[in-house]
Amino acid sequence: MKNPTEVNPADLLSYKLIGFGSGIYFGKHHRTLLQLVDKMPQNGNQQVFIFSTSGQEGKSERLHKKLRKKLQTKGYNILGEFNCPGYDTYLFTKLVGGLQKGRPNEQDLKKAQAFAENLKQTYNILLLCDTSSPQK
Ligand SMILES: Cc1cc2nc3c(=O)[nH]c(=O)nc-3n(C[C@H](O)[C@H](O)[C@H](O)COP(=O)(O)O)c2cc1C
Repeated sequence: MKNPTEVNPADLLSYKLIGFGSGIYFGKHHRTLLQLVDKMPQNGNQQVFIFSTSGQEGKSERLHKKLRKKLQTKGYNILGEFNCPGYDTYLFTKLVGGLQKGRPNEQDLKKAQAFAENLKQTYNILLLCDTSSPQK
């Protein structure tokens, strides 16, 4: 996982599958992601997916539009998109203790996992990951 500001756009060509994700701000993804796509080379071969958290629920069609359009215009193939609510305390929402408190929740994480499993099956990807203590 990398911050979009840390990557050289040309280096992204060495990856087969790239996920683009952030919170949603003013109806779109974080500007660093959008700026990165602007700098990425035109390329039809790479597979991508989009994810986000947002104050609004079930609106990813609209909230992902800007990033989706940019990626498609550059010729990238979008394999899937995932969105779930994220705790939102922006402006007036703070006055009511924030929106979507406790989200993402257990259920959201299960859905995110199912989304990732589905991508994994499509792509036959093996993720090697050890989260146990290095002492054991
Ligand atoms: C400045 C700002 C603008 C936001 N604009 C939107 C928006 O337009 N639509 C929406 O659904 N949520 C909006 N949100 C809520 C965030 O998308 C949500 O809280 C998200 O989970 C934040 O992710 P983060 O904690 O990684 O920043 C906004 C939040 C902030 C702070």
